[in-house]
Amino acid sequence: MNNTFNWNEFVELYDWEFDIMCDEQKHDVEFYQSMIAKKRGSVLEIGCGTGRITQHLLVVADYVTVVDSAPAFLEKLIDKLGEQPKLEIVRSDMRDIDLPKRYDHIIMSYSTFQYLLTTEDQVKTLQRLKKHLSDDGQILLDISPFIAIAESQLEYIPYYHHYHEVLKANITMLTSYRIDNDEKIQYWKDKYIINYTDESIKKGQIEKFVHHLALRRVEIEEMKQLCQMANLQVKQIYGSYDHGIIKKDSNNWFFVINHY
Ligand SMILES: C[S@@+](CC[C@H](N)C(=O)[O-])C[C@H]1O[C@@H](n2cnc3c(N)ncnc32)[C@H](O)[C@@H]1O
Repeated sequence: MNNTFNWNEFVELYDWEFDIMCDEQKHDVEFYQSMIAKKRGSVLEIGCGTGRITQHLLVVADYVTVVDSAPAFLEKLIDKLGEQPKLEIVRSDMRDIDLPKRYDHIIMSYSTFQYLLTTEDQVKTLQRLKKHLSDDGQILLDISPFIAIAESQLEYIPYYHHYHEVLKANITMLTSYRIDNDEKIQYWKDKYIINYTDESIKKGQIEKFVHHLALRRVEIEEMKQLCQMANLQVKQIYGSYDHGIIKKDSNNWFFVINHY
């Protein structure tokens, strides 16, 4: 499932798009840093992507192992962070993760848990995380409450148009999505049109690709049940990166989970 979504093709745009589009989400790093800095210790980061959070974890942790299934994202992370004695990089699907260590903190940022599309995969992954969690360790993850709540939008609609300084290209992104209400899954097809403007690169060339992704809605009560099924418990839920309470318009729910 998840690996059929073309993360590798999207890698050149990920950091750039995150930077221009995700003003609120980018504060998540403050939550993860603050939760680890109290104790330091070892961190396992699942779905690390290009290392957006990793670079900040390295400042507050003694040791960080990162895991992702997309090789191009891991290559980008190595380009950005270089080889570091405190950093271990593992390519694995999160459902199958099997490492010889246990960690003080396990992190899944930016709705990564919601890429698991079935209850079976969700529980299986939580069980794998439990196996890698030290006795008094914590699992930290954020969930977006806004997945699969709208009506389907099957025709492409314009989402943004921005200039990419490094690629020297105008990038137009059009989005469309289908909602499966029974399964609570939102399937996106995001079309990128990259129009190069610079002689030295590919002036006049236009590239197009479609990025597919799917996320599942997870309710708070459901998350508690999933944790129970994996013999874990939800210890705390915050409604904002600065440890605020959950409100109707909270952009993220930040879960703190530990052993039962
Ligand atoms: C939205 S990105 C988040 C990246 C990073 N955590 C951040 O906050 O910027 C989701 C990441 O999860 C990875 N991913 C998705 N499904 C996965 C799976 N089944 N196993 C491991 N990684 C997965 C993708 O390759 C991608 O890098």
